[in-house]
Amino acid sequence: MIRGKKILLGVTGSIAAYKAILLVRLLVKAGAEVRVVITPAAADFVSVLTLSTLSKNKVLSVLADGETWANHVMLGRWADVMLIAPLSCNTLAKMAGGFCDNLLLAIYLSATCPVVVAPAMDEDMWHHPSTRRNLATILDFGNAVIPVNNGELASGLYGEGRMSEPDDILTYLEETYFRESQLAGKSVLISAGPTYEAIDPVRFIGNHSSGKMGFALAEQFFAAGANVQVVCGPTSEHTKYRGIKVSNVVSASEMFDSCLSIFSTSDIIVMAAAVADYRPLNQETQKIKKESGTISLELTKTKDILKHFGEIKNENQFLAGFALETENERVHAIEKLKNKNADLIVLNSLRDADAGFGKDTNKVIIFDRQGNEWLFPSKSKSAVAKDIVDIIIQKLHDKK
Ligand code: CTP
Repeated sequence: MIRGKKILLGVTGSIAAYKAILLVRLLVKAGAEVRVVITPAAADFVSVLTLSTLSKNKVLSVLADGETWANHVMLGRWADVMLIAPLSCNTLAKMAGGFCDNLLLAIYLSATCPVVVAPAMDEDMWHHPSTRRNLATILDFGNAVIPVNNGELASGLYGEGRMSEPDDILTYLEETYFRESQLAGKSVLISAGPTYEAIDPVRFIGNHSSGKMGFALAEQFFAAGANVQVVCGPTSEHTKYRGIKVSNVVSASEMFDSCLSIFSTSDIIVMAAAVADYRPLNQETQKIKKESGTISLELTKTKDILKHFGEIKNENQFLAGFALETENERVHAIEKLKNKNADLIVLNSLRDADAGFGKDTNKVIIFDRQGNEWLFPSKSKSAVAKDIVDIIIQKLHDKK
């Protein structure tokens, strides 16, 4: 999301300035164009050479050096976002008071882009009434504040005041300022992960699904501007974006109920979960004890969520499913597309070494109802998710 975006990073005098190095590295790696401006006090905490090398740009620190004058107005206009991280107590107070005694403050005062700050200070300073008042003032000016973390502080104390971690700052920038708008206003429902069908209080029938593909899809739909709701079976996967809503379920029947409660308000529905097709007919209330050499379990069919949605969807809803096959893949996938009345089916085969449960890659063929098919090479699940989202965006566009 941040690729090609222009970030002006302001670094102030705080021990957390060392994290600015990592932040520059992450931003540049993610494809952003980064220029760094520091206050005089920041130079005591972090090397200008390191920041200029990593940002691939000269670090700016003075308004004028005798021969040249840094054009603070143009710098404030150049940036898509001005990020001040770490923000010290002192610079916060100056921002709130409208002071302009260094280049960073001059740029801040003339910035026409959004300004976001990541404060860093000791807990007592963080709770001081003047800090509270100054934060409220800059929020009132329209600046955004990335919340501080709880943890070990430079003083050795534990408490509030740690600067947010660089990874989290990058995520904050992406989700707050750099989402695309192709799917703005659209609501997307995604099922993800496995389901567990209880046999007794100790055992269950499950499968190896990790939920990675479902979460990769959720993040790509979110990046395209959609409101995203994931209904997810038991998995350790999660999303870094606070804006993606996740409902956790365990069994196929819970997944059915949860998806159904969201279905009618969803414009795009993608069923990526590996839902159990059968569950034990009777769930024992006590642990089954070991007795004879063999044991039989009576199983009954679960409800097919994708099929049910294919029956009840309206013409404005777009429904997609997955087909996980081990043989005769194309035939089975096209059958599923038709039988479940989906608009799109994504085939992955367990015969492909790069596809399947728990892997970070997938290899898919996508089929639509018009007889089109898209064959992709093996890619990361994130790249596969992007391909699926792009095809859905194209199909929605063609339908207009
Ligand atoms: N699906 C579902 N509810 C179920 C079973 C499957 O929503 N109870 C969805 C899956 O999320 C997927 C699609 O149906 O999008 C196909 O799932 P898959 O396991 O490949 O096929 P099944 O329909 O279960 O058929 P089979 O196991 O016979 O291949």
